[in-house]
Amino acid sequence: MLESVAMKDEDSDAARIRTAVYEDARPIYRLIRGHSDALLLRPLSNVLENLDRFLVAEAPGGEVVGAICYGLWPEIGDELRTSAELQSVCVDAAWRRRGVGRRLVLAQIGRLRALHVGQIVVLTYATDFFASLGFREIDKHAIMYKLYTGCVNCPKHEDPFTCPERAMALGAEAPAP
Ligand SMILES: CC(C)(COP(=O)(O)OP(=O)(O)OC[C@H]1O[C@@H](n2cnc3c(N)ncnc32)[C@H](O)[C@@H]1OP(=O)(O)O)[C@@H](O)C(=O)NCCC(=O)NCCS
Repeated sequence: MLESVAMKDEDSDAARIRTAVYEDARPIYRLIRGHSDALLLRPLSNVLENLDRFLVAEAPGGEVVGAICYGLWPEIGDELRTSAELQSVCVDAAWRRRGVGRRLVLAQIGRLRALHVGQIVVLTYATDFFASLGFREIDKHAIMYKLYTGCVNCPKHEDPFTCPERAMALGAEAPAP
């Protein structure tokens, strides 16, 4: 199902999905800053340190119109079933609903599957988008390590359990929320 969806969007004015290079770091940084309502902000230094984990969507004119990163959480799962997290998933507003977000996620899933991760999780408000890609809601208690090393530092909400973002996962037996 996922492959056939990915093919659908390949036309001449589609954005190209590719791995990030250092010239993309500032455009990625600005794109994430532009989505501070939905995304955890990253300092430029963090984008630079994690550059090899980013994919970008490049418009035909060369500008970066989408980005996606991932994190690895061997603490959630175990050494042979490490969890991966999709992070900084964003598409410029002018490029939405054209399949760019879907292609970014599918490409990142492909990279993570090649690592044989146990599951791919995401914390998000965009539940319909991730549900359309096969993600299912999970209980936030299943990712406590992430909540108390990452989310707990987020200035937006006092408690990860009162944060309205939902936890979703692909590729694991997800306990009911
Ligand atoms: C979420 C986001 C990345 C989606 O990017 P996009 O390029 O518009 O998504 P796509 O065009 O690939 O959409 C794929 C499918 O997801 C679903 N979808 C996408 N956006 C949706 C929305 N706003 N409401 C409901 N369903 C949506 C639809 O099923 C859509 O398929 P369709 O257009 O054929 O109906 C984009 O809206 C965004 O950057 N939002 C702000 C940042 C954010 O919330 N990121 C997620 C945090 S983890």
